[in-house]
Amino acid sequence: MKHPLFASVLCLGLGCSWQTTSWAAESATVTQLLAEYQQAGAAEFSVEAGKALWEKSFPTADGKQRSCTACHHLDLSKAGEHVRTGKTIAAMAPNANSERLTKLKKVRKWLKRNCKWTLGRVCNAQEKGDLLVFLSANQ
Ligand code: HEC
Repeated sequence: MKHPLFASVLCLGLGCSWQTTSWAAESATVTQLLAEYQQAGAAEFSVEAGKALWEKSFPTADGKQRSCTACHHLDLSKAGEHVRTGKTIAAMAPNANSERLTKLKKVRKWLKRNCKWTLGRVCNAQEKGDLLVFLSANQ
C-alpha cells in the first residue's frame, strides 16, 4: 500500500528523511506537522473527518456559505478556482501535484489563513491533522 505516512516511517527508519525528492519531503512535512498537532493534544487523525471538514459549508454573518471547496476542487485530483479572483488553483492531491504538502511554512500559512476565511476562526490541532491526513491520502 502506498500510503504516504507509512512510507515516511519506513523512510525515517532507513535514515533517509532528508531526501529532497518530493515524495520523501512531502511525507516529512506532513509527519512533522502531525507530530506537532499530537503534542498539542490531538487524538488520532481521521481521513473521514478531514474529508467532512473539507466539504462542509460554514455560513457567514451575511448569509453566504464558505467552504474549502469554494476555491479548491471537491475532487483533490482536479484544479480548483479561487472564488473571488477566479484564478486557477492547482490540484491539492500530492499524487496529482508533487509540490503539495512539501513546504512546512507554506502548509502552516495557508492552513491558518484558509481556516480563518472559511470557518471564521483558526482550526484546532485535531482539525488541522484530520485535514492533512485527508489531503495526503490521495483519494
Ligand atoms: C478563498 C479561497 C480559498 C479557500 C476557501 C481555501 N483555500 Fe486553501 N489555498 C488557497 C490559495 C490561493 C492557496 C495558495 C495557492 C496554491 O497553493 O495553489 C491555498 C493553499 C492551500 C494549502 C497549501 C498546500 C500546499 O501547497 O502545500 C493548503 C493546505 C490549503 N490551501 C488548505 C485549505 C483548507 C483546509 C481549506 C478549508 C478550511 C482551504 N484551503 C480553503 C485558497 C483557498
